[in-house]
Amino acid sequence: MNSFIFENSTKVYFGKGCVREHLSEALKDCGEDVLLAYGNGSIKKNGIYGEIMDILLRAKKNVIEFPGIMPNPTYAKVLEGKRLVREHRAGLILGVGGGSVMDCCKAVSMAAATRKDVWEEYWEKEGVIDFEPIPVGVVVTVTGTGSEVNGDSVITHEEKKIKTGRDYRACNPRFAMLDPEYTYTVSPAQTAAGGFDMLSHVMETYFSAPDGENLSDAISEALMKSIIKNIPIAMEEPENYEARSNLMWASSLAELRLIKLGKKCDFEAHQIEHQLGAFTDCSHGRGLAVIHPAYYRRICSCGLDKFARFAEIVWEIPAEGRTKEEMAQEGIRALEGFIRRIGLPTTLRELGLADKGILKTIADSCAINTGGYKVLTKEEIREILEVCFE
Ligand code: NZQ
Ligand code: ZN
Repeated sequence: MNSFIFENSTKVYFGKGCVREHLSEALKDCGEDVLLAYGNGSIKKNGIYGEIMDILLRAKKNVIEFPGIMPNPTYAKVLEGKRLVREHRAGLILGVGGGSVMDCCKAVSMAAATRKDVWEEYWEKEGVIDFEPIPVGVVVTVTGTGSEVNGDSVITHEEKKIKTGRDYRACNPRFAMLDPEYTYTVSPAQTAAGGFDMLSHVMETYFSAPDGENLSDAISEALMKSIIKNIPIAMEEPENYEARSNLMWASSLAELRLIKLGKKCDFEAHQIEHQLGAFTDCSHGRGLAVIHPAYYRRICSCGLDKFARFAEIVWEIPAEGRTKEEMAQEGIRALEGFIRRIGLPTTLRELGLADKGILKTIADSCAINTGGYKVLTKEEIREILEVCFE
């Protein structure tokens, strides 16, 4: 194991009924004015909005609504939230939704607390937070990003065509409420997309040094097996509590910084997906599904032992009679088969991209990470995207 310092400040409430039981207590010491942030209406259809509004009103909170946070939240939306927080002097931003809502809330919490242009100072480059962001609390309604337990916030600047995330510890939510029953109404397609996102978070951590025996990798293997087992169950039986609860906690564990301890981590597939998203507004999990197999075929010869171990432990492919190269290829084939089985796209065309012409522009705009087995060039990213096209 490499050396590390571990700290994670979010208080997590997990389980059936946890919002009903604990939200009013979590709201104490957050002032009277609460900005209630949410997406495009799913929480009104499934009753979550009513339940939370009831708790807020009983706690005598003055609720300012901030609806309409879109998937792939934009910087323009962040500025809208900032104006509301300032105008009403909200003491808490309560985000109810998935990664898009939570990320937007964190960015609003920074934008409202400083005079700086947060995009330029904190997203375009890594900045130092010399002020206190407005406190954020979250109620998770769709799993996948793990945004509830870290400071990461992924924002899209539409004009600049940049989608990028930064993880500031000061942006960790104060509390996160995780009731698996709140995810019962998530569609099978979104369950697959969010499920693949969490699987990707684990893989992007796992496929990086060190590769010797280490507990972080062992936890990752258990997580991957659990995620792969539970996605199809939750898709077929949306109200299967066991599957929903395992996915919900796996999503958080993958991004709690825990499995990253002592690991280099890569996240190059995420870099590519973010720029794909900046140009096409595709769903994060669906974009990742297209990119992963082609990306792994490109890099696996540089991390052969680990890819072979992935095949044997995660996909239970017998090693006997197979070379490491064959094992690595079988593991990637199994991953691709799983992507198909859960109905995710495997080509950019299926993802809705009609024109190959944009691939070079997307590749050129990608950031290059150095934590993986192979540091890609922009030309290699273009080639990977070409392979993904159809
Ligand atoms: O907008 P509403 O109407 O609420 O519908 C949402 C949305 O259409 C729907 N939904 C949410 N809860 C539901 C529900 N539908 C039925 N029942 C419910 N209970 O689900 C759809 C997707 O929601 P969204 O929040 O966009 O999905 P996700 O959680 O996958 O978040 C994606 C965003 O997070 C970023 C992604 O790049 C993307 O912008 N990421 C954030 C990360 C982080 N902060 O740590 C890391 C990730 O790698 C990722 O980049
Ligand atoms: Zn992700």
